[in-house]
Amino acid sequence: MPFKIAIFASGGGSNAEQIILHFQENSKVEVSLILTNNKNAYVLERAQKHNIPAVTFTRNDLYQTEKVLNLLKENEIDFIVLAGFLLLVPQNLIRAYSDRIVNIHPALLPAYGGKGMYGHHVHQAVFDNFEKESGITIHMVNQKYDEGRQLFQKSVPLNVTDTPDIIASKVLELEHEYFPLVIEDEIKKILGD
Ligand code: GAR
Repeated sequence: MPFKIAIFASGGGSNAEQIILHFQENSKVEVSLILTNNKNAYVLERAQKHNIPAVTFTRNDLYQTEKVLNLLKENEIDFIVLAGFLLLVPQNLIRAYSDRIVNIHPALLPAYGGKGMYGHHVHQAVFDNFEKESGITIHMVNQKYDEGRQLFQKSVPLNVTDTPDIIASKVLELEHEYFPLVIEDEIKKILGD
């Protein structure tokens, strides 16, 4: 049986799609389920395009019930990827998937992390502070936003003329290149490959 990944995403899902495409080439690993808290998220269309089952859940489902955990168990999910997922992961999931939940953050943590620091807010803050570089951080997930053990960072130089949108696109390019590879490395460690 393949090693099964579930991807949680709240928005566009461009990272989710890169991960799906990456593991289509790998017979040992399968992206089995997409989960979102946003019924209008474009990631749902990407899931449909690639024939991957997708489920929408509410904030209440996540924090007040075992629905999400039960879904993961029913689908025999081994590993969770947060790809633009904007809610805090509750304790029941962290306990059940200890050291098996990874997140990507669009900045060089610990800078520009924490509650409220997501998506465009991050790139705007980097721009406002005239930073000379930004980048990505991939980390394990714990009960606090953006504080789990870091697995990988990569930086990209910024020019004085870079707008927040340009910063966002430079960072997204790094995410697409490295996130699938770092996930694959972590899974190899778990499988002992
Ligand atoms: C990505 O840049 C990801 O790093 C960020 O949301 C974007 C999702 O893009 N995540 C966070 O800000 C989490 N704090 P996508 O939906 O196109 O993959």
